[in-house]
Amino acid sequence: MPETKPNKKGRILSGMRPTGKLHLGNYVGALRNWVGLQDSYDCFFFIADWHALTTDYADTRAVKQNSLEVMIDYLAAGLDPERSTLFIQSHVPQHAELHLLFSMITPLGWLERVPSYKEQRENITDKDLGTYGFLGYPLLQSADILIYQANFVPVGEDQVPHVELTREVARRFNQFYSRKVHSGDLDPQREVVFPEPQPLLTPTPKLPGTDGRKMSKSYGNTILLSEPETSLRQKLKTMVTDPARVRRSDPGDPDKCPVGDLHKIFSDAGTMAKVYEGCRSAGIGCIECKGWAADNLWKVLAPIQERRARYEADPKLAWDLLEEGSKKAREAAEATMVEARDATNLSHQYEPPTQSAGEGK
Ligand code: TRP
Ligand code: SF4
Repeated sequence: MPETKPNKKGRILSGMRPTGKLHLGNYVGALRNWVGLQDSYDCFFFIADWHALTTDYADTRAVKQNSLEVMIDYLAAGLDPERSTLFIQSHVPQHAELHLLFSMITPLGWLERVPSYKEQRENITDKDLGTYGFLGYPLLQSADILIYQANFVPVGEDQVPHVELTREVARRFNQFYSRKVHSGDLDPQREVVFPEPQPLLTPTPKLPGTDGRKMSKSYGNTILLSEPETSLRQKLKTMVTDPARVRRSDPGDPDKCPVGDLHKIFSDAGTMAKVYEGCRSAGIGCIECKGWAADNLWKVLAPIQERRARYEADPKLAWDLLEEGSKKAREAAEATMVEARDATNLSHQYEPPTQSAGEGK
C-alpha cells in the first residue's frame, strides 16, 4: 500500500463524468470541497471519460471537448496540479485491467442491487441501458478508487452506495487473494492488496437552479462557473421567488425562496440579516434582493473566471497538464497492478525452485 506522505492524512480519490462546462451545483456539491482537501491529503482527481461512455456510447463526439471543459473548470476552481494529481481515466489503462479482474469475482446480484442501476434503467428511456458496460458502471468506479489504494472518497450522498460496493469488492478480493511477503527466513507473511476506502461525505447545501428545482444540466436551469457577469445578473432577475410574494407589498419568506437559498450559501451574515428582515416586512423588493445575491455570487465566480481565461486562451496548456497528471497517475496505478497481478498469480516470472533442507551437503 502507498506510503502516505508524512504531512498527509491519507490518499483521496474522486472524479466527475465529463458533462461539459461545470455549474454552481458541481462547485458547491464537490469541487469547492476538493479544493480545500488538497493540503491535508494526497489527492487524485480525475475525469471519468469511460464512465461517460456507459450511457452515451451511441454518440461519443462530445466526450473530448467535454473532458477539456471539465479540466479547465477543475483548474479554474483551484485544483492545483502542483499539489494534486489531475488526470483522465482513459489515459490510465490500469483502471480497465483492474476492472476486468474485479469482474471475475463480483456476483451479478451485487451490481443489480445498486440503487442507481434500477433508477436509471427506469428513468432513462431514450437510450438502451441494457448493456454490460452500464451494469458494470459501479464496478469500474470501484476500480477507479482501488487502483490508487485510496483511503477516502469525497462524494455526495448519491454516491455512497458505490463506495459501499467498493468496500465489498476490496474485501472479497482480499479474501481470495493476498501477496506472499518474505519478511524473514521462516514462513512467508500474507499481505492484502486493497484498503477499504471510506466515503468522505460532502455536506451538500440545497442549491436551487433558476427555476427553483435542484440545479442540474438536464433541467436547463444552471448557472455555469464560466457564466459571464451580465448573463449571471440576467438569470437571477428571472429566477423564481417565494410564490407567496406576488406584489411588492406582500411579505415573503427567504426560507421558502430559491433566491433565499442562494443567499444562505453565498452571502455573509450582514446581508442575510437584511434579506430576512426586508423580505418578511416587505421592506425590500425582490429585484434589490436578487441584486445582492448576484453581487455575492460574482465575488465567487470572478476569481474562478480570472484563472479560467489563461486556459481558455491556450487549451494546449490544459491538455499538457492533464497528460502530465495522467503520467503520474499511471505510475501509481501500475504500482498497485504489480501487487494485484502478483496476488492473482498473473505475474508469470520464472522463480527458481526453493532450496530444500537436504541440499548443499
Ligand atoms: N460516478 C461518479 C458520478 O457520477 C463519477 C465517478 C466515477 C467517481 N468514478 C469515480 C466518483 C470514483 C468518485 C470516485 O459522479
Ligand atoms: Fe426571495 Fe429575496 Fe424576494 Fe424574499 S425578497 S422573496 S428572499 S427574492
